[in-house]
Amino acid sequence: MDFKDQIDINRLPEHIAIIMDGNGRWAKNQGKFRVFGHESGVLSVKDIVEGCVEIGVKYLTVYAFSTENWNRPIEEVNALMELLISTINQEAETLNKNNIKLNAIGDLKSLPQKCIDDLAAAMDKTKANTKCTLTLALSYSAKWEIVEAARKIAEQVKDGKLAINQVDEQLFASQLTTVNMPDPELMIRTSGEHRISNYLLWQMAYTELYFTETLWPDFRREHLYEAIVDYQKRERRFGKISEQLN
Ligand code: FPP
Repeated sequence: MDFKDQIDINRLPEHIAIIMDGNGRWAKNQGKFRVFGHESGVLSVKDIVEGCVEIGVKYLTVYAFSTENWNRPIEEVNALMELLISTINQEAETLNKNNIKLNAIGDLKSLPQKCIDDLAAAMDKTKANTKCTLTLALSYSAKWEIVEAARKIAEQVKDGKLAINQVDEQLFASQLTTVNMPDPELMIRTSGEHRISNYLLWQMAYTELYFTETLWPDFRREHLYEAIVDYQKRERRFGKISEQLN
C-alpha cells in the first residue's frame, strides 16, 4: 500500500511548513552549479503544491529565502531572485486556475523591485482563491518577525491605543506575518539537517518536526505523504498526559 492510501483524510494537518534544504548538495553531487539545484527545486515545489491540493491540505508555507541567505555569494542571490521572479510569472496563472492563493511573508521590501511588483501582481490575481494557500517565506526570519511585532505593539502602547495588560498571546500572534493562518501542525526539513534555522519560531511552539535525508530536488509528493503518515502516528499531547486525550 502506498503512503497516500495510509493517510487518514479526517486527521490531515491543516498547515504544513517546509524547509527546502539540500539544493546545493544535490547539484554538487552531479558536478553541476548550485543554481541547477535551485532550478530543480522549483519542480519539487510544484509537485508538493499539487500533492497538498490532491489530498486537501489547506496551507503550505515554504522557506524560499531566509534573511541569512542574503549573505550568500552575490551571484547565487541574484540567481535565486531571478528564479523567483520567473517562477512567479510562469506559475501565477496555473495557481489561479487551481484555486490556489499565493501569499508571501518576510521583509518583502528588501527584495528587488521587480520581484516586489511581480509578487504583488500574482498575489492580487489569486487573492480570492480558497482551496489552498501557498505562502512563500522570502527574506524571512522568525527573530525579525518577532521584533517587528514587538515594535508594532510598543508603538500602539506609546500612542495610547493599547493598554499593556491587553498584550497577550492572541494579540501578539495577530501582529505576526502569519495572522489569519493556523499554526503549522507539521514541519518538514529535507537534507538531513536537524535545525529550525530561524523559521516560524513562535508558530512552531507545538509543531511536529519531521526530518528526512532526502535532498529537496528529489522530494516528491510520495515523500510528503510518508511524512504525513508519520505525523498521524504521533500522539500530540500539548503538555497533557496520554490518558487525558481520550
Ligand atoms: C536550500 O538549499 C534552498 C534555498 C536556500 C532556496 C530554495 C529555493 C528554491 C527551491 C527555488 C525557489 C523557490 C520558489 C518557491 C520559487 P541550499 O542551497 O541551502 O542547499 P545546500 O544546503 O545543499 O547548500
